[in-house]
Amino acid sequence: MADIVSVRDVQKTYDSGFQALKTVSLDIREGEVLALLGPNGAGKTTLISLICGIARLTGGTITVGGHDVVTDYRATRRLIGLVPQELHLDPFEKVINAMRFTRGLFGFPQDDALIEKVLRRLALWEKRDSRIIELSGGMKRRVLIAKALAHSPRILFLDEPSAGVDVELRKDMWRIVDELKKDGVTIILTTHYIEEAEAIADRIAVIDKGEIKLIQEKAELMRQMGRKQMIIELQQPVDAVPDTLAPYGLELGEGGTLVYSYDTRGERTGITKLLSDISAAGLTLRDVQTHQSSLEDIFVDLVQGDAQ
Ligand SMILES: Nc1ncnc2c1ncn2[C@@H]1O[C@H](COP(=O)(O)OP(=O)(O)OP(=O)(O)O)[C@@H](O)[C@H]1O
Ligand SMILES: [Mg+2]
Repeated sequence: MADIVSVRDVQKTYDSGFQALKTVSLDIREGEVLALLGPNGAGKTTLISLICGIARLTGGTITVGGHDVVTDYRATRRLIGLVPQELHLDPFEKVINAMRFTRGLFGFPQDDALIEKVLRRLALWEKRDSRIIELSGGMKRRVLIAKALAHSPRILFLDEPSAGVDVELRKDMWRIVDELKKDGVTIILTTHYIEEAEAIADRIAVIDKGEIKLIQEKAELMRQMGRKQMIIELQQPVDAVPDTLAPYGLELGEGGTLVYSYDTRGERTGITKLLSDISAAGLTLRDVQTHQSSLEDIFVDLVQGDAQ
């Protein structure tokens, strides 16, 4: 896949003197869904604002579709749709007019068929003549998406699309992202919900304290860093790990269980030998469970590891 956005050695220091981004480099591939994961204040919105050309770079360069975001702002901005973190909507405007206005803003001719398609996709068609003030919070968020899609952007930024949105609506959002991706739209979203990144992203970037800590294919990430735990329940709970099982580095779990951690990458997990050694130690198995470490474990490790 070709890169559609290229961020090179970008730095951002706000006028207050606060350095929100240290030196960030990142390439976004055309057609992918990239999730930016990071704690509050990590620099996610800052990075998006710089790419969208609504905050000033302190250092480095950004290109979108091959155009420089500073010198060729108009060209880059037309390629981008942005759903901002904060709700900015005129409460008395009608849904359909909000979309028409955005199209006009970018100098595109009105296109009723397109507007209808987007509003239907976002389940807002029935509400097209409602004023924003008459909508629920989740609907307002969908109006923001409709506005961002009004000029058929090739790249869509969703800054915390599911903040304050219920589970049902969040799933709706995921479906919308999926459909846009099928249309070839590149999507970058920020989120605090790890399950959201896990559900919809192709790649995941973790950002913390103004630095990209990691960027990787989601599947690869899960494979590489995923460790599995096997919880071994015995007929007779134990209060110590038998000496003969010392080489396995077992830990004592709840209720006198034995816990074995292994790497799913390894050629040999050692499970077969362990189970036969347990039996040789005179212990009888009652039940065995496995637990795969999640992206959440990985994320917490990365962000906490930095604090130490
Ligand atoms: N206009 C501004 N002036 C000064 N500092 C700012 C400004 N905007 C953001 N910051 C600071 O830059 C840092 C990064 O903020 P940013 O909004 O990019 O974080 P974020 O990752 O989007 O966080 P959140 O998850 O809370 O939205 C924060 O410490 C914030 O206080
Ligand atoms: Mg933010």
